[in-house]
Amino acid sequence: MNGTGRLPVVVLISGSGTNLQAIIDSADNDLPIEIRAVISNRPNVHGLQRAAQAGIETAVLDHKAFPDRESYDRSLMALIDTYSPALVALAGFMRILTPALVRHYAGRMFNIHPSLLPKYTGLHTHQRVLDAGDALHGASIHFVTEELDGGPLIVQAQVPVMAGDDADTLAARVLEKEHQIYPLAIRWFAENRLRLDENGDVRLDDRKLEQPVVFAPQEAIG
Ligand code: GAR
Repeated sequence: MNGTGRLPVVVLISGSGTNLQAIIDSADNDLPIEIRAVISNRPNVHGLQRAAQAGIETAVLDHKAFPDRESYDRSLMALIDTYSPALVALAGFMRILTPALVRHYAGRMFNIHPSLLPKYTGLHTHQRVLDAGDALHGASIHFVTEELDGGPLIVQAQVPVMAGDDADTLAARVLEKEHQIYPLAIRWFAENRLRLDENGDVRLDDRKLEQPVVFAPQEAIG
């Protein structure tokens, strides 16, 4: 926490930034965080405009300017740390992170992923759900660990797969839920209700989560 009682947060993006927008809107409302910076690995993405519009400092660290992942992540860590965040929120940051970076932010880095993890890690989750004929899909927030999309789960929201869905309609339904569960997980963390303990277990209100908090399709989130 800082002097204002707001949790200092840095958000990492690569694209449109609708999850960033949801976090900004929640912070404008009653989410007790201060977004100190938004960092993108891609120049000129819409998320940077969203941040600037909200008066938040932005930075671009273009991965194309670096010879390898290690040197990029070293610079990224140095940049993030200039803002002294208590939480780093990956919000559509489409990069695989080095173990050194992940370890550096252990217990204070969240990721959002558009599937009901552990199902469908990686890319093209919506199309893969359709191809598999699943009836349920959704989104997950998890602590970041060295395993890609494999860190301890915090919260998930489910959506139904509807007849006639394509990847875009399904993605839109999932995204609506993403915009609710990301601010919620950040709220729990900012209010000191959520942490990753020394055994790698997620604790919410000091109870070990044996499984993530799951919101069913029709259930109100919050
Ligand atoms: C979101 O759907 C997020 O879950 C996904 O990228 C999108 C970013 O949208 N993240 C991943 O796939 C990470 N593996 P946004 O820029 O509009 O927030």
